[in-house]
Amino acid sequence: MKSRKILIAPSILSADFSQLGKEIKAMERAKADLIHIDVMDGHFVPNITIGPVVIKDIRKHTRLPFDVHLMINNPLAYLDDFIKAGSDIITVHLETCAKNEIRKIKEKLDLNKIKFGISINPATPLEKLREFLNLTNMILVMSVNPGFAGQPFKEEVLPKIIKLRKIYHKDIEIDGGINDVTAKLAIRAGANVLVAGSYIFGDRNRIKMVEKLRQCR
Ligand code: DX5
Ligand code: ZN
Repeated sequence: MKSRKILIAPSILSADFSQLGKEIKAMERAKADLIHIDVMDGHFVPNITIGPVVIKDIRKHTRLPFDVHLMINNPLAYLDDFIKAGSDIITVHLETCAKNEIRKIKEKLDLNKIKFGISINPATPLEKLREFLNLTNMILVMSVNPGFAGQPFKEEVLPKIIKLRKIYHKDIEIDGGINDVTAKLAIRAGANVLVAGSYIFGDRNRIKMVEKLRQCR
């Protein structure tokens, strides 16, 4: 079987926010594939991070695609701002959207040629996602409860990835607790986009950490 290309998506949530431009340049040097940007609203998740204003400014520092993970209630209301800020992929949480909203989000993203991802929390079953799969370019399977970097990987989500990979042939992203051990488990299950925050930015040699992840098979 032809093996799928593994994409590395460093999550800047664990970067030094006072040095974001430099941190992103380092990820370019490390040949990261995407920059994963965690947007949290203090409602859907118990933490607050950054919004479109910051994304717009870091957009000037790199051509790497921005993989924007919206952990916010009512994402449709803020979609235009994230589109204008320079997102390349926008992922919303299934738990935050009604059916008709998902369709509206998809329409807007299509008009702007932006890829559409849907994410599910560890407790959300795959069945709820099924009817939307064909609208998406990527599914993001959370392997921690969203809100914070540095949590341990929940192995119980692996069967969900295995099941999803059987019916879904586009990108499957895994987010939460990824390191050189858990990355292998996720890849074996069928994930091909690896988000990693504390694993990469928790080491002074960030470039080496991206390399180590890339070597996981
Ligand atoms: C968690 C975020 C993740 C987080 C990952 O809610 O969605 O992207 O930054 O951090 P690590 O890799 O440290 O678990
Ligand atoms: Zn994330």
